Amino acid sequence: MITGCWKTQAIGQGVALGLFDALANGAAASTALAHASDANADGVMRLLRALATLGLVEHLPGDRFTLTPTGALLCRDAPDSLNGMAGHWGERIWESFGRLGASVQTGEASIPSGPEHFAVMQADPAAADVFNRAMAEGSLRVGRALAGAYDFSGFSRLMDVGGGYGALLVGPLEANPALAGQVYDLPALADPAKTWLDEQGVGGRVDYLGGSFFETVPAGADCILLKFILHDWNDERCRTILRHCRDAIGAGTVLIIERIVPETVSSADKDVIRGDLVMLGVGGKERTEAEYRKLLGEAGLRTGRIASIDGNFSVIEAHATTP
Ligand SMILES: C[S@@+](CC[C@H](N)C(=O)[O-])C[C@H]1O[C@@H](n2cnc3c(N)ncnc32)[C@H](O)[C@@H]1O
Repeated sequence: MITGCWKTQAIGQGVALGLFDALANGAAASTALAHASDANADGVMRLLRALATLGLVEHLPGDRFTLTPTGALLCRDAPDSLNGMAGHWGERIWESFGRLGASVQTGEASIPSGPEHFAVMQADPAAADVFNRAMAEGSLRVGRALAGAYDFSGFSRLMDVGGGYGALLVGPLEANPALAGQVYDLPALADPAKTWLDEQGVGGRVDYLGGSFFETVPAGADCILLKFILHDWNDERCRTILRHCRDAIGAGTVLIIERIVPETVSSADKDVIRGDLVMLGVGGKERTEAEYRKLLGEAGLRTGRIASIDGNFSVIEAHATTP
């Protein structure tokens, strides 16, 4: 536990240098990989040896390396890719955890965050690409599990509010051929989101709407999805977002997809509590069920069923108290 940071950085740097993608076509010498990634030959050799001890590449005789099945998950285009997640943890989350002490002292974010930060980050193609792919990789999996845990057959249009690339929509759309999707997020994501959704085969069924959920949420959907949105923000900002969702949804349904903090935590709760430390560093928080019920009530929403999606994520159903 004490030394675990080296793994995050070794994997993150391997991804940043494109080593896993470069090995996808077959074994290669570390000198060639260093040349292709414009990095120091000795440094790349030592990084690859570290990755070999993690089982992500295999060290062949001499200075040659080949990809392992686990390492293949770090290729950008792998079906269950974790490439974006590894880049995100190696850069932004790394920076945040390096300053965890400051957030614990003050209760404030330790790295640039807030509405302005999101707008700046999403307008920077390189930073946005890593962040949005990290989110999409997770949401693709969660959305497919959600489609198995929740019945969408009664809805006609799902709107993924703050949806990024709209990855959460893929599972419900695959399972419900008559369903249409909408992504509502900052205008800067429109083109990459469309490209990503086309690659998933659902681009023709999803519209992208650019705007800010702090100003409004467009009407037109009968189900709104909010995943990893409320955990980004303090209670006041959450109430603003939720009120806009309530105004947009009429008699429809709002679904909040988050990891819920248990009232008493045990070692089984590492995922949500790790997420909560990440949120501490950016000014958000993971919440208990009671905290979500309270927030929803304050925004004019009544909490309905709460179901476990995969033992880790939950879906909280909410309806306007006065549609
Ligand atoms: C933590 S990500 C979650 C993305 C997606 N829901 C998921 O779980 O994969 C937060 C998302 O909120 C979006 N966002 C931030 N500020 C926003 C705003 N003012 N209006 C609309 N979307 C915003 C970001 O661009 C980002 O896509």
